Amino acid sequence: MAGGGMVTTGEVKHFEGKATVYVVLTCILAACGGLMFGYDVGISGGVTSMNDFLAKFFPNVLANKLRSAQTSNTYCQYNDQKLQAFTSSLYLAGLVSTFFASPVTRRYGRKPTMLIAGLCFCVGVIFNAAAQDLAMLIIGRVLLGWGVGFANQAVPLYLSEMAPTRWRGGLNILFQLAVTIGILFANLVNYGTGKMKHDGWRVSLGLAGIPAGLLTLGGILLPETPNSLVQRGKLEDGRKVLRKIRGIENVDAEFEDLILAAEESKRITSPFRNLLLRRNRPQLVIAFIMQFFQQFTGINAIMFYAPVLFQTLGFKSDASLYSAVITGAVNVVSTVVAIVVVDRAGRRILLLEAGVQMFISQTAIAIILAVGMKNGVSLSHSLGIVVVVLICVYVSSFAWSWGPLGWLIPSEIFPLEARSAGQSVTVSSNLFFTFVIAQAFLSMLCAFKWGIFLFFAGWVVIMQIFVILFLPETKGIPIEEMEVVWTRHWFWKRFVPDAPIVDHAGIPTTDDTKKSNNLKPATTNGADNGYHKNHDAPQQA
Ligand code: BGC
Repeated sequence: MAGGGMVTTGEVKHFEGKATVYVVLTCILAACGGLMFGYDVGISGGVTSMNDFLAKFFPNVLANKLRSAQTSNTYCQYNDQKLQAFTSSLYLAGLVSTFFASPVTRRYGRKPTMLIAGLCFCVGVIFNAAAQDLAMLIIGRVLLGWGVGFANQAVPLYLSEMAPTRWRGGLNILFQLAVTIGILFANLVNYGTGKMKHDGWRVSLGLAGIPAGLLTLGGILLPETPNSLVQRGKLEDGRKVLRKIRGIENVDAEFEDLILAAEESKRITSPFRNLLLRRNRPQLVIAFIMQFFQQFTGINAIMFYAPVLFQTLGFKSDASLYSAVITGAVNVVSTVVAIVVVDRAGRRILLLEAGVQMFISQTAIAIILAVGMKNGVSLSHSLGIVVVVLICVYVSSFAWSWGPLGWLIPSEIFPLEARSAGQSVTVSSNLFFTFVIAQAFLSMLCAFKWGIFLFFAGWVVIMQIFVILFLPETKGIPIEEMEVVWTRHWFWKRFVPDAPIVDHAGIPTTDDTKKSNNLKPATTNGADNGYHKNHDAPQQA
């Protein structure tokens, strides 16, 4: 790693190992953290569109909603700061807890962090399902937020570290798949409980106990990752787990790599300070910006508020929950596409294709709403269906791009010395921007009306430019070898000290004549991580 004494040859190593049943099962259980996160994302929209929930906690919103049913001001019927705070408080709490979750993940491991998350979730669910007043409701949401902060810190890291390199993308996306299944599950539950005469919302909030319980179980039963064991000096345990998860006896090469990486990370004790080092600037900037972009695709406007949004567009309460279930299902299926494609086609192609799809669908939705919903009067039935289809087109593209990759890429780019801190920045900035959207969307919808979709489409254009220019491909690079992508990138290489000058065989050289003649720093514009160029080159001794 740069600056740390380890020679990076521009070479990419391959380690032995298969994706064992054991590792897959382990990852599935860990991914329950994602299930819980998704359930929390999906549940609030349906609950806040239920009249008896509004009557108990937000009587003003209910009065406003009933009034606007008779007037034409549907875009503003849910515009209420307290109602938005019910949704957003979880994300604010999650943001704060991430900073506590990071040292726990590093010092005590990924497994205890997941256990803490599970326990926070369980207590939060009890508060929510039993809520008698707004205070209990918000305390429950805050506890769930703590769970989200701890789970989102530990689970993606856990998955990246357990997975063999060539499966890493796919297995990591299990987290995102679990998020989408959680959202769908929440929408289905809301669809059912929306029909209950009384207290359907309590059942909705209470059923979050299932994923919460599963994650707690995972925190008790799962093995710790080899990376974390080695980093904390438990070398033999680390080797044992590595053998078990790779399904082979000889794991020496990968184990050596883990030890080197761990020794290096021990040299500097403060991961947050490491994170600010110039050599980690590319990773830091990318992780942060990807969270901003992920949320400014506008996805959570749909995920949190789909039932509310569909009601605003004139769907009856039943039909709007039904449409939320459809978009939820599209979200799950399209995430599977990402799992299959990500380690073959790579990350960038998915992001770029999806950008086009998102831009077109959002712009079309804005035009239909502008034309078809004059003076706030609901859409006609047929235009309503077209909008649902367009929302599905939009959701599907998000689900195979920014959804999973917003988590995958940051989890695989940080060197061990800054990985846990990098993950906290990822999670906390994600939660921060999620909070912003949760808190602002209903007010923005009221102010911008159909223009809200153009607002998000505009951001999609900026994201495309970012991906083209600044996001290197990370497919197929072992985590501890990731530095090669920065040393080869036209822009980021300036942040990596001593970017190796390699000859055509991939062997580093310091010979000035060679430098000026036929040798160049290995560089890519990001479209190709350069792996194929040097991959058969002789290994540096
Ligand atoms: C995002 C969530 C979003 C979800 C939708 C995740 O990757 O972080 O904010 O609700 O995708 O599937």
